[in-house]
Amino acid sequence: MVMSEPFDFFQAGELPAPVVSVPDAVAIARDHFGLAVTATALGSQQDANFLLRGATGEPVGVLKVANPAFGCVEIEAQDAAATFLADAGLRAARNITPIAEVPDGSGGTLFARIIDFLDGGTMSGDGYVPPHRWAALGSLVGRAGTALAGFDHPGLQRTLQWDLRHADRTIELLAHYVAETSRRHLVQTATTAAWRTVAGHAADLPMQAIHGDITDDNVVCTSGDDKSPDGIIDFGDLTHSWAIGELAVTVSAVLRHEGGEPAATLPLIAAFHQERPLRDSEIAALWPLVVLRAATLVVSGNQQAAVDADNEYATGALEFEWRIFERAVSVPSDVMTALIADAVGRPATAPTPELAPILAGVAADDVALLDFSALSDLVDAGAWLDTGCEPDAAARALAAGAPAAVTRYGAPRLTRSVALHHDSPATVPTGIDVWLADATSVTAPLDGVVESAAEGEVILAGPDGVVVAVRGPSVRSAELTGHAVAAGAPLATAGPGRVWLQIRTGDPDLPVPAFVRPEYAPGWLAMTADPAPLLGLAPAAVPGGEDSAELVRRREGALAGVQEQYYRRPPRIERGWREYLCSVDGRSYLDMVNNVAAVGHGHPDLADAVARQWRRLNTNSRFNYRAIADFSQRLAATLPDPLDTVFLVNSGSEAVDLALRLAMATTGRHDVVAVAEAYHGWTYATDAISTSVADNPNALTTRPPWVHTVTSPNSYRGEHRGAAAGRYADEAVGVIETLVAEGHSPAAFICEPFYGNAGGIALPDGYLPAVYRAVRAAGGLAIADEVQVGYGRLGRWFWGFQGQQVVPDIVTVAKSMGNGQPLGAVITTRAVADAYRTQGYFFSSAGGSPVSCVVGLTVLDVIEREGLQHNALVVGDHLRARLADIATRHPLIGAVHGCGLYMGVELVRDPVTLEPAVAETSAICERMRELGIIVQPTGDRMNVLKMKPPMCLSIAAADFFADTLERVLSTGW
Ligand SMILES: Cc1ncc(COP(=O)(O)O)c(C=O)c1O
Repeated sequence: MVMSEPFDFFQAGELPAPVVSVPDAVAIARDHFGLAVTATALGSQQDANFLLRGATGEPVGVLKVANPAFGCVEIEAQDAAATFLADAGLRAARNITPIAEVPDGSGGTLFARIIDFLDGGTMSGDGYVPPHRWAALGSLVGRAGTALAGFDHPGLQRTLQWDLRHADRTIELLAHYVAETSRRHLVQTATTAAWRTVAGHAADLPMQAIHGDITDDNVVCTSGDDKSPDGIIDFGDLTHSWAIGELAVTVSAVLRHEGGEPAATLPLIAAFHQERPLRDSEIAALWPLVVLRAATLVVSGNQQAAVDADNEYATGALEFEWRIFERAVSVPSDVMTALIADAVGRPATAPTPELAPILAGVAADDVALLDFSALSDLVDAGAWLDTGCEPDAAARALAAGAPAAVTRYGAPRLTRSVALHHDSPATVPTGIDVWLADATSVTAPLDGVVESAAEGEVILAGPDGVVVAVRGPSVRSAELTGHAVAAGAPLATAGPGRVWLQIRTGDPDLPVPAFVRPEYAPGWLAMTADPAPLLGLAPAAVPGGEDSAELVRRREGALAGVQEQYYRRPPRIERGWREYLCSVDGRSYLDMVNNVAAVGHGHPDLADAVARQWRRLNTNSRFNYRAIADFSQRLAATLPDPLDTVFLVNSGSEAVDLALRLAMATTGRHDVVAVAEAYHGWTYATDAISTSVADNPNALTTRPPWVHTVTSPNSYRGEHRGAAAGRYADEAVGVIETLVAEGHSPAAFICEPFYGNAGGIALPDGYLPAVYRAVRAAGGLAIADEVQVGYGRLGRWFWGFQGQQVVPDIVTVAKSMGNGQPLGAVITTRAVADAYRTQGYFFSSAGGSPVSCVVGLTVLDVIEREGLQHNALVVGDHLRARLADIATRHPLIGAVHGCGLYMGVELVRDPVTLEPAVAETSAICERMRELGIIVQPTGDRMNVLKMKPPMCLSIAAADFFADTLERVLSTGW
């Protein structure tokens, strides 16, 4: 072996990758390692790598032909480090052959060896990666860092362009390769600022062996659905450097991906910190190092492309390297540092400056506090998508006599929410608004120098970098710019009208936007202080209030675990309007799942009607009041003859339970025929006839003998598909006839008239006519469970059974009927109701109460007045057409089921086997939530996106859903 000087990038200059062709690689494997293989070139910036496969195509290993610039001891160090990590329990690509010297074709030699092939695939590409996988990567890097702290080797002593200790020199040397002046200038400016910070902490940054390139390209993942990174490959940048450099490199890789904005790196950083706690100096240096890594990538990529124009790997990387850089500098480093400190549980605590009140004559006790949070009653139901309600609320407060009305610092404002938006909007104020009733004189809150005093603005710089800004059209100040003023000295007059107050405590040169996005709020708020003391008020206790995770903890402590919730880390939703839900962060989500809120969330007609009725009376159905008569008549009128008699209850479960008892009482029998995979409720009897394993995992093993199921008539993935689906009816008739023959004639056949649990698959034509005929011939009754699909949602019909041209004997309804108010009903014939009377008892304390009846009447009014059934038809057809079109480009979509606004998008891994794409469906729902849409999996296999939004869904909202789904299917989940 030739011993050489350790590699020094600053001496070596340009490093084109060794030229090794695929036939060369095959020959090297054969001649030097005795292997008969095929080879496929793998991308690399400075080495030549090939995946080798044996006779049956099985991977044999990776042939690595090192750049001739590197000495043997450096390659030995890399192999030793891989072995060291593998011995420490990590999956790492070890060498499986010794290092061989191979001729380079021009008289020199190259070092070649074969490395273990680790299966599982990398995280490469620019697709979306969910937070839990980034966290897994952070944890892997943390474990590798902890292990490598104990590794040493002479081959670590080298000077690489990737070693961030040399970033300033590397970037200076290579910047000229960036041809575009504006880009080059940006890179150089960012480097200067970042290096200044890093240099300030360099002495406190621990050193150790680092892999130096644990990126998405250089990790491999577990093979299951989870695909967590758990293996490390390519030790080519191994060196002795700052330990935190390892993390900075990995963090920068996040920024390349769809959705990889700076805040997306926090789960990775927090997970790293769990494994290998960060020091304060490392927290301070981390983001500047990410910027330096990004700048190094840009300049090195441009250099490589210039010297090695044929290296597609290098030229192809230029745009994503630029994206990494742009994202790294998109948020100021100071803000990211504060955000990182917060994410690892060490939030910066800036001392609050001592401030005197500045508004002469405005007594703190008289100031009105304006709450524009999601929990505020100042904001009208629908007005929260409109900032106009801020001045309106302030005007009301001033009109009531307050000298000033003031908002809260750091509390997300619902009024800044934006509907149908992929990113969270900037809702968190970094200062406060004050509305003044009168012209008021403004005095200095502390000793300082007036930085600027212009029409509409006064800025005062105090000690310790504190900067107080007073802004607003009414602000008028004397010529004070550059003057020193003492606390209490006059600065300006302000009012009447709106004034913005902001106190900056960070870098005096860093402007802080008035509103920031919630993900970045801890970072930006650390650059500011609460201006409330400027009005003599106490600072806000907890900006933003109780967070979602804390609420989940309290909920879980008090509530039965079986009462589940959506999402692993749910947003805290406290507001709704039409088809939107809004979180306390002030983020709007498009709600695609709340079929119960049929007429939309927060409907003012409903709120008014309920409030009015509550003030008048709420009692029970044994009293004589008008609403119960009006509502029962009105409900019965929606149904065909002879369904004219109503029972009012509180839920779907109660309605179906009562329907079963009506059938049993009328027929004097006990057996019931139900459709497999359906859900009808949670009470004892309704649970007995429910066999959806998605709702009840024990459903199939706990059937009592009186329940008989017929095959679920799924024409997409069931036993009989397409045209053959007609057989389901014959089979169901057969089950009923067998029961009769065995002396178990059924009391009833119960079925959803549109197959809900599978995501809204229409029943086969003629299904209900045939089965109703059979059950009636057997002396039983036909029950239609319309709890889910009835009430106009299907668009074409008000009731689902109308689509099958049948009339049931008993209809159950709930959900939409009350728009969320507990309200259900059973509608049947007078004869059936009377038959029950002879044997049964019925009173439901809140069923048919005045408030519930008023709700029921108002919901029917709104459905009619707003044409919601028609809307369900038009928007539903539009959305289905959009989804069908998307399905032509994305084979994961196996089918688009449904009618009106009751739909399901069924996701399959294989169009022939229809293997359910279960993990994909759940991950897609998580990604859709990040992009502003609430949608959930359904069906017994949990592979159907269920879509049953409020019936007021607009075309724009349907398009937003379709566009977002296509984006997710294209960019990953
Ligand atoms: C078809 C069907 N029937 C009955 C019920 C039970 O209704 P509730 O939840 O109001 O008790 C449901 C609820 O999801 C349902 O989907």
